[in-house]
Amino acid sequence: MTEAVSYDVLSDAAGGIAVIAIDNPPVNAASHAVRDGLLKAIEQFGDDASAAVAVVVGKGRTFIAGADIREFGKPMQAPGLPDVLEAIEGQNKPIVCAIHGTALGGGFETALSCHYRVALKSARVGLPEVHLGLLPGAGGTQRLPRLAGIEAAAEMITTGRHVNAGEALKLGIVDSVDEGDDPQAAGIAFARRVLAEQMPIRRTSQVNDKVEAVRGNEALFDGMRAMVKKKAKGQLSPVLCLEAVIASTELPFAEGVQRERELFMELMNSPQREAMIHAFFADRQVGKVPELKTGVARPLDQAAVIGGGTMGSGITVSMLYAGMAVTMIERDEESAARGRKNVERILDEGVKRGKIDQAQRDHLANTLYGVSADISSVSNADIVIEAAFENMDVKKDLFRQIDKHAKQGAVLASNTSYLNVNEIAAVTGRPQDVLGLHFFSPAHVMRLLEIVVADKTLADVAATGFALAKKLKKVGVRAGVCDGFIGNRILERYLSLASYMVEDGTSPYDIDKAVLEFGYPMGPNQMGDLAGLDIGMANRERKVAEGWQGRYAADYMDRITALGRYGQKTGRGFYIYEDGSRIGKPDPEVLEIIDAVRAEKNITPKPLDNEAIMRRYMAAMINEGARVVEEGIALRPLDVDITMLYGYGFPRWRGGPLKYADMVGLDKILADIRSFEGEDPEFWKPAQLIVDLVARGENFDSLNK
Ligand code: 3HC
Repeated sequence: MTEAVSYDVLSDAAGGIAVIAIDNPPVNAASHAVRDGLLKAIEQFGDDASAAVAVVVGKGRTFIAGADIREFGKPMQAPGLPDVLEAIEGQNKPIVCAIHGTALGGGFETALSCHYRVALKSARVGLPEVHLGLLPGAGGTQRLPRLAGIEAAAEMITTGRHVNAGEALKLGIVDSVDEGDDPQAAGIAFARRVLAEQMPIRRTSQVNDKVEAVRGNEALFDGMRAMVKKKAKGQLSPVLCLEAVIASTELPFAEGVQRERELFMELMNSPQREAMIHAFFADRQVGKVPELKTGVARPLDQAAVIGGGTMGSGITVSMLYAGMAVTMIERDEESAARGRKNVERILDEGVKRGKIDQAQRDHLANTLYGVSADISSVSNADIVIEAAFENMDVKKDLFRQIDKHAKQGAVLASNTSYLNVNEIAAVTGRPQDVLGLHFFSPAHVMRLLEIVVADKTLADVAATGFALAKKLKKVGVRAGVCDGFIGNRILERYLSLASYMVEDGTSPYDIDKAVLEFGYPMGPNQMGDLAGLDIGMANRERKVAEGWQGRYAADYMDRITALGRYGQKTGRGFYIYEDGSRIGKPDPEVLEIIDAVRAEKNITPKPLDNEAIMRRYMAAMINEGARVVEEGIALRPLDVDITMLYGYGFPRWRGGPLKYADMVGLDKILADIRSFEGEDPEFWKPAQLIVDLVARGENFDSLNK
């Protein structure tokens, strides 16, 4: 056999049992070596008179976790997975698949092509290809509906959801759940049953009752199509996943598989697939930072959070969910009680949404969580997270006090979105233990965590930041110190640009529409209304006080805000929100205010169309993203992409702004920037990194390697 697949026969009292074991660490991806080895093993089993039944099993921590994604985009080396799976299913002796860890994508499709499936209790199965901009391309869209029915199959395939062994048993996807922890033993035990009970060969492709039951049910299919399209927001893969699943009801298996292949190839050749696979690998690269090579994370059992407002309570709950003990510290008893209420409200919501049950909620609220009005309570914390106002003096004052009381070796973190962490660290006697942690609101929901490594932050303190992100199931991105770090610094640029476009003649509603159509969940003005226009105004005031550089075009926003129209919370901002609705209607008075400002500034309005809006919007985002990389604030372009994907709603199927730039062509982006330069040379000065990359004929991705 090959190194990746072994073939052994055990002579058992029940008869010869062939064990076909896949060994391709770390996740047994179905690479060319695995496909080739598996096909040879199946052929050997077919010819082997000493073996009456075969067990297919994975070595190491998991069954096959899918096709080898690294091979995508390169010429396919035969045998293809569909051919291997046809050979498995077509065997005339029974083949049992023993699943442990995760059987995903092509791995789960391999399991579906076996005649029987036994899963360890801890195993999960799924077809997550949709998240890679693909659809299951080795019969998954045709076999799964035959076992689980079209609705369950469509849900699993269009969402990529992993299903645990218990649910898989209920859905008829696996035949048995084994309580043990040895997949080979589970497979052999099932194989003995197959022999003893003379269980027949059962080919999934020939089980037709469930797909026939819904054949021609166009009302059902149209309903499913409408739902999937709405959720997809421009992403192609869920839509084509569903079409492939529906084909299983319309076509005989062999033709259904052909239809699946055509749709698979359409996606394989689409830019969305390239973008989403970039995001997949970027997800795994982003946590690889220099500090983790030398630094060892410090303990993270006991935390103290300073501040019980929106951020403090969200951070507290996310740590409680992770099983950490948290003391929330406020300035007085009254504020501490308010903080407790905020935390309990979020926990109650968690119960309502089914995230936790009442007993867990009570345990978290009463055992793991405590409040204090005395800052010396930080003394037993492994990590102290200050989540007070975004004000340097307030933060410095708190850090002086924290420094007095925190134990030696504690990690001292400031939750800040903009401020200089070096300055904060400098007021303590232990700047090496200080770092920034930029949580996103709501902190118990949002996945991004910017980990701000200041000049003196030790490697093990940075490593603790990454360990915390992992513990909280967040995506940690390393950022350097600057105003706004990675995300808010880029955000500031494209929000400024949005205000320039409005002042120059484009309606804020047209900007939101263009951004929405690009794939964002909302446009910049809708986001302003959600966050609160008063917060934006306070931020602008701070920047003006610090000596705002460049063009100020937010006068119309200041006027809207001055009218007390702060957005959703006041029922009116850029939009009007009637009867507590979260969907706003355009407000003619806002347009009048904008017109008045344009007239005062003698601006002749020149409205932009969707394409022109997005070219500017993206150029501004990419240009600042490049600067952030150039200055070392972000380690690599992929860190910028991950930040924008997880913190700012950038559509994943576009890969992130810098991947998007690579796919459009960096030379074209540079040409756009240069063409806008005449309008505002300071704002549109091209980042040197882009100029250099274009001159060298390279792209951002060359810096990710
Ligand atoms: N191909 C190639 N490499 C893969 C891979 C795959 N399918 N799955 C994981 N890897 C790599 C990761 O990049 C990582 O590499 P690194 O150590 O160099 O960074 C390493 O394996 C370990 O992966 P994780 O860090 O993600 O390990 P976890 O234990 O956290 O997660 C997992 C394991 C749940 C299996 C997760 O890796 C995963 O979800 N993998 C992708 C599964 C998937 O999407 N499968 C479908 C593939 S497409 C397909 O099958 C098409 C078919 O229909 C024809």
